[in-house]
Amino acid sequence: MLQAHIYRSYLYLFVGASLLSHVLAVNAERSSFAQPIARGIASLRGIMSRQESNKSHKFKRQMRGINYNKNGSAFVWLPQDSYEGKNFFEGFNFFTAPDPTHGLVKYVDREVAQRKNYTWVEDDGTVRIVADMNSWLPYNTPRESVRITTKKLYTTGLFIVDLNRAPYGCAVWPAFWTTSFGEIDVLEGVHDQQTNRMAWHTKAGCFINKNVSFTGTVSKGGSNQELVDCESNGYSKGGCSITDWSKASYGEYFESQGGGVLAMKWDENDISIWSFFRAAIPDDIKEGVPTPASWGPPSAKLDSSNCDIKNYFSNHTAIFNITFCGDWAGNTYSTTQCPGTCVERMMDPANFVNATWSINSFKVYKKQPVNGDFNPTSAGFNLRGHGLDGTTLLGASVLAGGMLAL
Ligand SMILES: *[C@@H]1O[C@H](CO)[C@@H](O)[C@H](O)[C@H]1NC(C)=O
Ligand SMILES: *[C@@H]1O[C@H](CO)[C@@H](O)[C@H](O)[C@H]1NC(C)=O
Ligand SMILES: *[C@@H]1O[C@H](CO)[C@@H](O)[C@H](O)[C@H]1NC(C)=O
Ligand SMILES: *[C@@H]1O[C@H](CO)[C@@H](O)[C@H](O)[C@H]1NC(C)=O
Ligand SMILES: *[C@@H]1O[C@H](CO)[C@@H](O)[C@H](O)[C@H]1NC(C)=O
Ligand SMILES: *[C@@H]1O[C@H](CO)[C@@H](O)[C@H](O)[C@H]1NC(C)=O
Ligand SMILES: *[C@@H]1O[C@H](CO)[C@@H](O)[C@H](O)[C@H]1NC(C)=O
Repeated sequence: MLQAHIYRSYLYLFVGASLLSHVLAVNAERSSFAQPIARGIASLRGIMSRQESNKSHKFKRQMRGINYNKNGSAFVWLPQDSYEGKNFFEGFNFFTAPDPTHGLVKYVDREVAQRKNYTWVEDDGTVRIVADMNSWLPYNTPRESVRITTKKLYTTGLFIVDLNRAPYGCAVWPAFWTTSFGEIDVLEGVHDQQTNRMAWHTKAGCFINKNVSFTGTVSKGGSNQELVDCESNGYSKGGCSITDWSKASYGEYFESQGGGVLAMKWDENDISIWSFFRAAIPDDIKEGVPTPASWGPPSAKLDSSNCDIKNYFSNHTAIFNITFCGDWAGNTYSTTQCPGTCVERMMDPANFVNATWSINSFKVYKKQPVNGDFNPTSAGFNLRGHGLDGTTLLGASVLAGGMLAL
């Protein structure tokens, strides 16, 4: 009886490394056992957030690692792929075709990038990607740079990139984005832009819903119209876009904060993007148990109420690129405080010292539904969980991701 009751009412997940040191979730709704058990668990070191329950006993705790669907069912974001350290580039292809956006850039292949030291991994595991910072170039000559694309394809997921630096500067147009069917621009900007500009590009019929909560502002287009229509057809329609409110999201100021984390959650409900400068990175991200519901409103959100996400975005690779001038950066150069023209700017290598990615890690998590069972033991609590599809969440692959074991 007790077991059955608790079985339905509670969900507990353990962090692998030190058993009992972290319980990730309690869904104690509708249980008369909620408070005593919750108190018991709270006494275990580091177990739960310090929220007090209220007298109604009807509460749902926001626990690190546990996320809820709209229908109340629980899931975790499980580590799927981790791109970092010495193996970082093995997960990527190098793109060498001409720039589709007509930048003054020449993308080089893996061999050239390594030989010319445009890509390398530092001793501490930091991944670096830069453009050519050494060569003086004749007028109107493409500068060598790098664009890398994940070998894997993704449809939905939680994408978390930890950056020390992202490229910026006059004539520089960097992007961290995902694409194939539809496009999601997670980090993008040009020149001396002060804040990050996030965007979506897809077929007709998908719009930003301004009524949902996000902290950025819908970007304005050339004729001052709000860019809520995500349709992108290559000429009259260029997609929808939201500009971050925080200067700590882009360029020199982002760098001065020691960079930070960008998180893009893409599921059937929405595509949301959060930006955290280094000091503001939530603990659950640092600990590898991301819990987006605890992060507050995102900087930008494309909500399913006005865009049926699954019909507009699929099969994406994730891409880091650094381009120059071209469709966006070239056409907007004259509106900035940058000196001369974009094409002139390309000649001097010293202009590109900040056109550099410094990446701590790029991690992709996937949604894993969970339920769990609960057994008090002499050791405290012996908890197990399993995916609704029957997979056990206990295993080396899970632990290797630095996350949880059940
Ligand atoms: C107690 O929790 C319920 C359910 O979450 C909530 O509606 C209510 O406002 C809370 N009451 C107090 C006093 O916090
Ligand atoms: C709850 O919602 C999730 C996500 O939409 C879905 O996968 C799951 O099947 C739903 N569960 C129930 C019991 O309806
Ligand atoms: C760089 O990324 C942006 C992402 O918005 C994309 O539109 C553009 O085509 C890319 N440019 C190059 C040169 O790869
Ligand atoms: C590559 O360049 C960076 C800085 O530009 C330097 O610190 C590093 O030692 C170089 N690596 C190699 C292999 O030349
Ligand atoms: C946003 O809210 C306004 C006012 O409630 C409503 O008229 C409009 O239809 C809403 N738009 C969307 C896309 O939900
Ligand atoms: C995405 O990839 C899957 C598997 O390769 C394929 O069946 C599907 O048609 C693709 N979707 C689109 C929109 O291209
Ligand atoms: C590079 O960034 C530094 C600040 O970090 C700034 O002082 C300098 O002007 C920048 N150089 C270029 C060429 O953008």
